[in-house]
Amino acid sequence: ADPEATVSEVLAERAGMPGALLPILHDIQDRLGHVPGGSVPVIAQALNLSRAEVHGVVTYYHHFRTHPAARQVLQICRAESCKAMGADALMAHAEKTLGCGQHQNSKDGEFTLEPAFCLGLCSSSPALMLGDELHARVTIEDFDALIEEARS
Ligand code: FES
Repeated sequence: ADPEATVSEVLAERAGMPGALLPILHDIQDRLGHVPGGSVPVIAQALNLSRAEVHGVVTYYHHFRTHPAARQVLQICRAESCKAMGADALMAHAEKTLGCGQHQNSKDGEFTLEPAFCLGLCSSSPALMLGDELHARVTIEDFDALIEEARS
């Protein structure tokens, strides 16, 4: 899709609604996979907001990406039950292995690393999701094997 045309389309559909900003951002991300930085001034103008306000909302909600996601999205659950079972160590290991922080793309450009807030596998923590595949009781060794497999 042409990002500019998509943004104008979404704005035409929703700009008149009260509280339109979040639905607009969601729609843009659903259609483009991210909210391009260049769309911020356009959205601001359409909604009569300042650029800083729109930018603030985009960065406040970690859900929104300002860059396209990598081919594979890796989400590691950081909610309570997974935290209690070592999710923080798993996340730290993931950051080190992939050479990136959360909400960023890995050094090799293959993965986007994201935190998740409960993947519904609390009884088999810690959990992660790679693409649309869920994995439970993930050890550091499991993680390494998964990444190796996903890379090949
Ligand atoms: Fe991690 Fe529910 S807390 S899956």
